[in-house]
Amino acid sequence: MSKNITSVLHETRSFGPSDEFRKKAKISSVEEYQKLYRQSLDEPDKFWGDIANELHWFKSWDKTVDWNEPFVKWFVGGKTNPSYNALDYQIEQGRGDKVAFLFEGEPGDSKEITYTEMLIKVSKLANALKYRGIAKGDRVAIYMPMIPEAVIAMLACARIGATHSVVFGGFSAQALADRINDAEAKAVITADGGYRRGGVLPLKPAVDEALKICSSVDTVIVVERANNPIDMRKGRDFWYHDLVNNASDYCPAEELDSEHPLFILYTSGSTGTPKGVLHTVGGYQTYTYLTNKYVFDQKEEDVFWCTADVGWVTGHSYIAYGPMFNGVTQVIYEGTPNTPHFGRFWELVEKYKVNIFYTAPTAIRAFMKWGNEHVEKFDLSSLRLLGTVGEPINPEAWIWYREMIGKNNCPIVDTWWQTETGGIMLTTLPGAHDAKPGSAGLPFFGVEAAIVNAQAEELEDNEGGFLVIKRPWPSMIRTVYGDDERYKQTYFGEIPHVYFAGDGARRDEDGYYWIMGRVDDVVNVSGHRLGTMEVESALVAHSLVAEAAVVSRPDSLTGEAIVAFVSLEGGKEGSDDLVKELRDHVTKEIGAIAKPAEIRFSDALPKTRSGKIMRRLLRSIASGEEVKGDISTLEDKSVVEKLLKQAKIQK
Ligand code: WTA
Repeated sequence: MSKNITSVLHETRSFGPSDEFRKKAKISSVEEYQKLYRQSLDEPDKFWGDIANELHWFKSWDKTVDWNEPFVKWFVGGKTNPSYNALDYQIEQGRGDKVAFLFEGEPGDSKEITYTEMLIKVSKLANALKYRGIAKGDRVAIYMPMIPEAVIAMLACARIGATHSVVFGGFSAQALADRINDAEAKAVITADGGYRRGGVLPLKPAVDEALKICSSVDTVIVVERANNPIDMRKGRDFWYHDLVNNASDYCPAEELDSEHPLFILYTSGSTGTPKGVLHTVGGYQTYTYLTNKYVFDQKEEDVFWCTADVGWVTGHSYIAYGPMFNGVTQVIYEGTPNTPHFGRFWELVEKYKVNIFYTAPTAIRAFMKWGNEHVEKFDLSSLRLLGTVGEPINPEAWIWYREMIGKNNCPIVDTWWQTETGGIMLTTLPGAHDAKPGSAGLPFFGVEAAIVNAQAEELEDNEGGFLVIKRPWPSMIRTVYGDDERYKQTYFGEIPHVYFAGDGARRDEDGYYWIMGRVDDVVNVSGHRLGTMEVESALVAHSLVAEAAVVSRPDSLTGEAIVAFVSLEGGKEGSDDLVKELRDHVTKEIGAIAKPAEIRFSDALPKTRSGKIMRRLLRSIASGEEVKGDISTLEDKSVVEKLLKQAKIQK
């Protein structure tokens, strides 16, 4: 962990909601927020008990929270089911004919699915899974395009108590295999392919490739989507439509223990292989329900569009679960924002009269680059609230979002959270707070955040330090799947007695948090977390590579970009062809998102005397900054000079 964090951003503007927005908002003043916030900390049993009871429980809990650091249990002894809460419970409240999903495929095909239709589809797939011998406690991998069947698959697993592990469709066969093997998944739900960037992204072929090295899977269920040619292996592979056509259309939801594992989602850390972040039923459903309701000020008639992919946690908490628990109508879009034209998202906002729009800063920066003319063509007057997530947003992009998309009339919520936190932790509440461009705002209910140094001492206002959470919250990560020790070390091992998020931040005099980015070896490319270690291992796996060090440098579009320093076997020289080969190699090992933006060859890498690569130095070199600070521990100083000289030539 780097010790000195200097905050450089000083932004003084702030923007409050309009009177009209405030008047109709669920929480409409700072006082109201403060009162609830105090209650959430002072009387957590009552606060969380009341919220949990806004959803359905087969059996109530005996104890609200059981904290045995670092392990937590919520709603101990209670029995519930998130699939029941997302579907049956909504129908019981009169939302059966309400549209759950407005789906738009990339080629322009579209369909509507009501809550009742969702329940039938989910039940049928749940019954099909049961027919294939999948039962409560089994793991199921989901590798899908952004089509409604992705959500149906998640809710079908939850319905029978199978734990899903969604793997982003952009990950390679190797990455998929690693995740299947770690979770020992029994089944994979996938599609032939999906439409992406005007073409077909084949998925089933990658599953076939992955399964060559996975022995746990005996069922593959394939949705017919893109009609690309695929092989079907008899006895193992089944068409989704065949299975569901033969399945009965009602499947009762299993009564699951509150701490039953709902899903595993793999995410990058600073060391080793991706971690399987485990979330459980009762706490996760309560927290995603509540955050969705208040952060997005969710109204019965709202159309909500979260542009995330279900392969990431945002697509879990704010597509498949949180909005469903609130009975919301959602847009789900398969493709990319620039296919077939640069105004595609705005066309959909107009078409579906989207009221609440939630996306990532990297997308906003891309829209800015593409030009205002693509936005201006469409009527965005339905929008009333905007959100961002995934990485710090630069004030310039924030202001553009407010002016061009929100027409100066929509509050913006900048929501800070993580795969591990399960739901939004820092945000403004849109009807209560002023927003400051670039700040993620204040702690949500139940979140006791702080900025500390490595000894867990709290710092003064505006001092940069580590962002930590001082008490457990309902949707907190329960463990790293199969590795309690790693869980303990990663989140509770660095700073005593608090959850350490891995981000640097400061808190200003108004209590607003300003995230400064990761303090560990995790890079954030387009809002996607990647461990530098993983990219390094992929590079080193190439036969010509002796050593690799991967760092990030700032990038105006993707937030951060990956720069790899590579030394070759036998002192060989690098070439443009080899750069291409190595980039392709990383794509094959992990996926295109991990492809280095830049590869620099060097006959040696800067190391300390104990042999540790000095990434801090490489980061400065990659960013074109002056190399500052102490380099006395460096084993061979001439390496740095060579790297700097090389950087000058490249410029
Ligand atoms: C970063 C995504 C600044 C942060 C939900 C965090 C953010 C990591 C924000 C988690 C934000 C997420 N402002 N940084 N509003 N939201 N981050 O697990 O570094 O994919 O630790 O979860 O993204 O990424 P993850």
